[in-house]
Amino acid sequence: MIPYRRVFRHLPQPALVLAPGEKLADANEAALGLFGGCAANRRERLDRVSAALGPWLHADVEGFCLSNEETRTYEKEHQGFNQSPRYYRVRLARLESDCAGRGVIVILTDITERRRALEEIARLAVIVDSSDDAIISIGLDGRILSANRSAGRNYGYEPDALRGMSVFALVPEGLDGEMRYIIEEIGAGRSVARYETLRRHSSGAVFPVSVTYSPILRDERVWAISAISRDISARKRVESKLQRTNETLNHLLDETVKALSATLEKRDLYTSGHQQMVSRLSCLLAGRLGMDGAQVETVRIAGLLHDMGKVCVPMAILSKPARLSPGELALMRQHPETGFEILRNIPFPWPVGLAVLQHHERMDGSGYPRGLVGDAILPEARVLAVADVLEAMSSHRPYRPALGLACAMEEIGHQAGACLDGEVCRAARALVEERVVSEVRGELTLCQ
Ligand SMILES: [Fe+2]
Repeated sequence: MIPYRRVFRHLPQPALVLAPGEKLADANEAALGLFGGCAANRRERLDRVSAALGPWLHADVEGFCLSNEETRTYEKEHQGFNQSPRYYRVRLARLESDCAGRGVIVILTDITERRRALEEIARLAVIVDSSDDAIISIGLDGRILSANRSAGRNYGYEPDALRGMSVFALVPEGLDGEMRYIIEEIGAGRSVARYETLRRHSSGAVFPVSVTYSPILRDERVWAISAISRDISARKRVESKLQRTNETLNHLLDETVKALSATLEKRDLYTSGHQQMVSRLSCLLAGRLGMDGAQVETVRIAGLLHDMGKVCVPMAILSKPARLSPGELALMRQHPETGFEILRNIPFPWPVGLAVLQHHERMDGSGYPRGLVGDAILPEARVLAVADVLEAMSSHRPYRPALGLACAMEEIGHQAGACLDGEVCRAARALVEERVVSEVRGELTLCQ
């Protein structure tokens, strides 16, 4: 037989033997180590164990002794030596042994960490359950292992009903492959970035979601998948409404710009079509120069409106079939500023007004109205300047016949790097050489 005392002494849990009258008769090494401190002899250590645990156990032991129970198990908090609470499972058992005598044996199991882990799990469970996102865990066989309340609400099932269901029941027809891919990728330890897709409600209705998948590991191996999906129906509705509003506003802006442009061209038949052609040429140049979408939009709209200020120039000057006098020229040269004044209060999201103001500025400072030099001129205005020269020289004017595309390109070649931006002039030459810009029966023609 294994001697009782030897087994008792080496139990891993703290264990005590209380003699009748609750007097501490014995304590094992684990109890002495935990509650006996570092006193020199065993008697002192036993006294310390008795002092630490006697009052703490008194009521329970007394109640147990008065009862008819053979054993009693309960959980109880003990204030530790560092004043931090520890939690123990206390097991009381009657001891009636010839060798150990009568009494009560007390075995303590420290459950502090397990209890804290359970509390943490409970806390996380509350967070998961109160989340607005649907959170489910999926086995690698596609079965749903768990689901929070929102998952039930979003997919139209009781959370308990979701458990055990195939995840493919939540996927609309045609998207099974997507779910198989997710299970394969995550199962193989590869990550999948958050993305937007569609899911199916129990009613059959399909709704948009944003989904995130992550692996759930056990022993460093993927054994399940966590899926967090957010119903983005409301956001999609707002986005769609905003898109429609934007389209309406853009249409409104386009029509307003066209109406403004037409105002001048109705009045000045000689330059009718000039602004439209400058706008189209400018867009081609901006595209060739690699300008971004905002810059292309700036030159498109500024091109349509760049001579807007001429509405304030008398018709007699606009249509004069001869060179203008210095006074008339001065009046004509006010048109960039007049155009800027007309446009300055229109809240274009791009610098349309400034591009209009600067379209007659020249790189060497010889332009007007400010005589700006080089980089002080907006890139968009430099594009307009080349397109304006190209169109104006290629077309008929009241004071001269059309000079033609070849002549216009020759002039642009002379002015490249001096009056006009060299890079824009090279882009114009490339467009002509590639016949994107050409001349057909004396008319400037664009093939895009
Ligand atoms: Fe102009």
